[in-house]
Amino acid sequence: MKKLIVGNWKMNGSLAANQSLLDALKLAHPKSTDACGVAVCVPAVYLAQAQALLTGSALKWGAQDVSAHEQGAFTGENSGAMLREFGCRYVLVGHSERRQYHGETDAVVATKAQRALACGITPIVCVGESLAQREAGDTMSVVKGQLAAVVHAVGHCITEVVVAYEPVWAIGTGRTASPEQAQEVHRMLRNQLLAACGKASSTPKILYGGSMNASNAAALLSQQDIDGGLIGGASLKAQDFMTIVSAAQYQ
Ligand code: 13P
Repeated sequence: MKKLIVGNWKMNGSLAANQSLLDALKLAHPKSTDACGVAVCVPAVYLAQAQALLTGSALKWGAQDVSAHEQGAFTGENSGAMLREFGCRYVLVGHSERRQYHGETDAVVATKAQRALACGITPIVCVGESLAQREAGDTMSVVKGQLAAVVHAVGHCITEVVVAYEPVWAIGTGRTASPEQAQEVHRMLRNQLLAACGKASSTPKILYGGSMNASNAAALLSQQDIDGGLIGGASLKAQDFMTIVSAAQYQ
């Protein structure tokens, strides 16, 4: 399966910093390859800049969140239709930071995935367990439950999503899941998606996220069910991010 490497800038960047980062990425990844897709998910206020700089390039862009509502009195939110106008190919939904700091439930995440799909944007559905949940032996049931909510809501459109497994304890901590730990969860997610999709050819990609960097990417990406990466910190440095892209291209 073609790999996908997505940068999640989180709440980082400035017009000047984004310009030099995106210019460097365009230079390093001048044309689309069959081996790997590359995208960046930027703060919503920078979507116009991403669209201006990346249109016509091999890089796709996306947002980090989408409203569960279509339009109306929802101060501070951005609708799927708005994201579409700015050329978003992807949107993250259910990132653990949204679940943790903004109280997003599985039901809200599922609705957001539906809204994105309805607007022609691929939702990157993030799932992952906390350290306490892992230590209690609940990893599989937690992650499975988070994905099940989305499977249930989107039905046969599940083939159109991307899934990202991001163990919360590995995000921004420098503590990565081992390739074996990640593969074990990815295998379970693959089986869950296979059951939902009906046929193997249409199962969504499953990305790994959580302290993936230039040094550990190759080992993670070589795992059978790891179809790419969702990169936080290392996506802010052009060279590190491109090293991860190269690691994905040579799997
Ligand atoms: P880090 O790569 O900084 O750990 O962040 C991972 C993440 O949350 C990507 O969405």
